[in-house]
Amino acid sequence: MLVDTGWQTFNKRLQKKWSISMSAVKIGIVGLGRLGKRHAANLRFRVQGAELKAACSIVPEELEWARTELGIAETYIDYDEMLNEAKLDAIFLVSSSSMHAVQSMKALSKGLHVFTEKPMGVNLEECKKVENVVGEHGDQVFFVGFVRRFDPSYSYAKKLIDEGVIGEPFLVRSQTVDLDEYAEFQVDFVPSSGGIFLDCNVHDIDLARWFLGSEVKTVYAKGGSYVHKAFEEVNDADNTIVLTTFEDGKMAVIAASRTAFHGHDTHTEITGSKGILKIGMTPAKNRVEIFDVHGARQECVNDFFERFQEGFLIEAQEFVDCILEGRKPIVSAIDGTKATEVGFAMTDSFKQGREIVLD
Ligand code: NAI
Repeated sequence: MLVDTGWQTFNKRLQKKWSISMSAVKIGIVGLGRLGKRHAANLRFRVQGAELKAACSIVPEELEWARTELGIAETYIDYDEMLNEAKLDAIFLVSSSSMHAVQSMKALSKGLHVFTEKPMGVNLEECKKVENVVGEHGDQVFFVGFVRRFDPSYSYAKKLIDEGVIGEPFLVRSQTVDLDEYAEFQVDFVPSSGGIFLDCNVHDIDLARWFLGSEVKTVYAKGGSYVHKAFEEVNDADNTIVLTTFEDGKMAVIAASRTAFHGHDTHTEITGSKGILKIGMTPAKNRVEIFDVHGARQECVNDFFERFQEGFLIEAQEFVDCILEGRKPIVSAIDGTKATEVGFAMTDSFKQGREIVLD
């Protein structure tokens, strides 16, 4: 029997969708930076049923890239101008985190479907405002890019949990770990990203809520700038760990690091009453093992995109499918708010050196 890794389902759905869809979803992408370029290439060349019609960035060179590399004729420096002039069905936000909430609300109010990269907002107040606007536009798709939910291994783990394979899950241990070589330029990102808990751990928070089916009650964060003192100067850290408890007594241990030397090492372990699931514990680049003068070893994935490239494509396809099929995504605006709320509580706990109890 073939084990469904997620790709089989994905491919079957692609074939099915094309047979029912009549016209492509016209999309305008916002942000063509480190991740935006990857999303844009997926939307332009790989996502079925999508037409990447317009692109917006405040960096003129990135718009030039969109015109020459992707053949997108309509490019805009100004987001409002794109909203007013381009004839679009949907907006795909990969702009700086601090822009997500306001740009989401503007697009929703114009009657467009919205995909927003994480985090949905960088503070609780703006997340609540987005939730309200999403509520007022219930017939439009609103999708928060928690890509790990769409990674074949993570979605398979969720399926196993739902089938009861590990009994009742009660403990999640999850980490987001980036290569040290990216640390220096992350310092400049801290003001707009919200810091290490909001930037890195929103994914782990979302996973812990998703796998445990419960809401976070308390967080106790510890950490420091062990390698790069520059993070301390902006009130952030390069390595952190958070003890998290949930309303029903379940637990999570959530960690982040910006100083790995071996590769991008994001992994998650879920313990249940009847078993344990481990996802991506060795961040292997592929299945090749090298036996040489250095010993027996595997090469690692280098960055988040290499690790989650299937997930990024599957989530973009799912966004378009939700629009074409009139379905609601599995990630709601409430999930976006919760992740930001918990990320903020972790940041407060770290800065205040005490446990924070969420309302
Ligand atoms: P970046 O700094 O490389 O790119 C930011 C882009 O936003 C640039 O193209 C810039 O021109 C554009 N932009 C900023 N303000 C704008 C405005 N007012 N109007 C139009 N465009 C504007 O950032 P990067 O690394 O590509 O990250 C973008 C977003 O993606 C962030 O919110 C980040 O949190 C998220 N992200 C998500 C990841 C995931 O695992 N899901 C991984 C990496 C980033």
